[in-house]
Amino acid sequence: MPARNTRAGYQDAFWSSQYSTDPEFFGRVESPFSHWAMRLMKRDGVSSALELGFGYGRDTGYLLASGISVTGVEVSSRGYELAAERFRGVPGVRLHHSDALSFLRSMAGASMDAVYSNLFFNMHFTRAEHRALMLEIERVLSEGGLNLFSARSTNDPWYGKGRQVGPGTFDHSPQGTTMVYFSARLVKGITPPGLKTILLEERTEGEGDFPISVLYVCQKRSAVRGNAVPTPLP
Ligand SMILES: C[S@@+](CC[C@H](N)C(=O)[O-])C[C@H]1O[C@@H](n2cnc3c(N)ncnc32)[C@H](O)[C@@H]1O
Repeated sequence: MPARNTRAGYQDAFWSSQYSTDPEFFGRVESPFSHWAMRLMKRDGVSSALELGFGYGRDTGYLLASGISVTGVEVSSRGYELAAERFRGVPGVRLHHSDALSFLRSMAGASMDAVYSNLFFNMHFTRAEHRALMLEIERVLSEGGLNLFSARSTNDPWYGKGRQVGPGTFDHSPQGTTMVYFSARLVKGITPPGLKTILLEERTEGEGDFPISVLYVCQKRSAVRGNAVPTPLP
């Protein structure tokens, strides 16, 4: 359980409040990104995935229904409770209430076919935290494993709105939370040498008054394990 005065504690409080008000805050069905990612996971024969920031489990259910066993980690206590209730007794799923980086650090190396996350990397992480997350993802993936993630991009209508609190990072309170917006350059700058970006596409999601621009990224774990420092970013 993260301490309240940490950023993980703030995330827990913010998202638990959203999910308490609306237990289907992002809708009932799986995300558009999950379908894009599933095509790639099927192609590569993925059978186990770690899901970072699963929310209340809308994509978790889709991964499970597609025959992939899921280890999930979520910092929101309310999100975790909703998902734990939904998947009680369902085989092939293990859920954890924790900060993602701490959880990744507790995992065995080369233990996952894929790491999956939808709109998780946009959360309020510093560049150093993004790099630390990526290094851990590189470590827990088996050779040839996939890191699949989506993140709102610098072309998103919300980019530049609110109060800037870091590079490409805007505090949207009171309407929303703080978010980091992604570009191809940022992806490159936080990616360690053992992960190779094999696909990077930009998509528009949502409709009407709330369209969002999202980068869809697929990276593959190569045989190279490196400590080399990724490209410097501001
Ligand atoms: C934009 S929501 C997306 C939720 C889910 N992936 C979905 O698409 O329905 C981001 C999620 O990341 C979680 N999160 C934020 N920081 C986290 C952290 N440090 N560790 C684990 N989860 C985190 C939030 O609690 C929230 O549920």
